[in-house]
Amino acid sequence: MAKPKYHVFICANQRPPGHSKGCCVDRGATNVWQRFSEIMNLKMAYDKVMISATRSCLVPCQYGPVAVVYPEGVWYCRIQAEDVEEIFESHFMNGKPVERLLLPKGIIE
Ligand code: FES
Repeated sequence: MAKPKYHVFICANQRPPGHSKGCCVDRGATNVWQRFSEIMNLKMAYDKVMISATRSCLVPCQYGPVAVVYPEGVWYCRIQAEDVEEIFESHFMNGKPVERLLLPKGIIE
């Protein structure tokens, strides 16, 4: 198996109902994860992208659902399922991250 060019970590952390920080699952991370998987299968992009759901919080909860793409360390925030195809096309197929979904500078660093 070829080494994928990109590895996406999607926060799939879930907190109890009513928790003050909320969590990415409550903000739609499960649908985002499913959409990533669907598009991955449709495009047969296994040699290009690997997708992992994290069981622990990636930190910027209030910006969830969040995902980080390596090796670049590009952070996406407030992703919804309908955004995923654009991320695939623009970032993974054409090397151009989707600016409107980037985590604001200074949140992580
Ligand atoms: S719960 Fe997803 S970043 Fe904290």
